[in-house]
Amino acid sequence: MKKKISVIEGDGIGPEIMKQTIKVLNSIARKYGHNFQYKKILAGSVAIDKFGYPISKETINTCLKSDAVLFGCVGDPKHDHNPRGMRPEDGLLQLRKIMNVYCNIRPVVLYSEINKSPIKKELLEKVDFVIYRELTGGIYFGEKGRFDDGEKAYDYCIYSKNEIERIGEMALKAAVTRRKKITLVDKANVLETSRLWREVIQKMALDYPDVYLDFLYIDHAAMQMILNPNRFDVILTDNMFGDILSDESSVLTSSIGLLPSASIGDHKSMFEPIHGSYPKAAGKNIANPLGCILSGAMMLEYFGMYEEKEIVEKAVKDSIDKKICTPDIIDSENCSTTEEVGNYIEKYIKNQ
Ligand code: IPM
Ligand code: MN
Repeated sequence: MKKKISVIEGDGIGPEIMKQTIKVLNSIARKYGHNFQYKKILAGSVAIDKFGYPISKETINTCLKSDAVLFGCVGDPKHDHNPRGMRPEDGLLQLRKIMNVYCNIRPVVLYSEINKSPIKKELLEKVDFVIYRELTGGIYFGEKGRFDDGEKAYDYCIYSKNEIERIGEMALKAAVTRRKKITLVDKANVLETSRLWREVIQKMALDYPDVYLDFLYIDHAAMQMILNPNRFDVILTDNMFGDILSDESSVLTSSIGLLPSASIGDHKSMFEPIHGSYPKAAGKNIANPLGCILSGAMMLEYFGMYEEKEIVEKAVKDSIDKKICTPDIIDSENCSTTEEVGNYIEKYIKNQ
């Protein structure tokens, strides 16, 4: 198969983790006779430095014309005080919006060999859930502003029935293929948007009689994720709550560097690890490339390359079994570099 992939390394550790991901994808391409054509483009702080804004029209057009976008990570403290629309993160947000990738899928899978979570081991044994995070609406994208000479600020949180339905359908369908449980996480005791989410999802769930639907308020869900994480199968939630819960979920898995995501729309899709740009680690060859590599695996699945996806996941698991790991998930005396992890996975695929 021939695929055009837009590659946005982004900031901080982005270039290092992406390099390993491309290496792994190339080993898949060689093994299965695929032709992956990459086009590297800029977004985030590097784009601000070069063009003066966090994403260019050209970058957006390239992404819209490709079969998928692979995204590293963005963010740099030197731009923290830029005006609205001019922060590195705005490049990512604009891209998500324009590509209309409204359904962000964040699987949370544990590797029993890694034991860096502060949570008791026995609570983690059966953890296996996936977060369906709405990605192009809500408070992230509502009108924002200041008044009273900048001393008052607002962010609107708006959701339409249609925005809820389209991700609701994807999450309910996912539940059917899993353990048939879906938890809607919201704040319906306070927020009107949350009440709309409940109404819409409750109604839709009637068409899925085998799926058990329950509801948790976000505050309680945050607590349950630590106290009883294996109660979750599919979590469906809005943009902001999904952002918060997904970072929290990485405490269960030992490292945020392990977690991938797929951002899916009706026509376009983007694949991005859930972590940030980790500026302090940039250039040190210590960042965990697995979240990015596994995002690449989700891209392969999206392309219909199921065997290819599986072999990448197997290779990742094997690298962890063999303790070829970056220092976020193993003791620093025994750790490997970003590069070594990538090389191991590349070789594993080649030798299968
Ligand atoms: C994420 C990130 C982004 C988000 C940032 C970088 C804008 O935290 O993908 O979870 O908040 O969506
Ligand atoms: Mn986040």
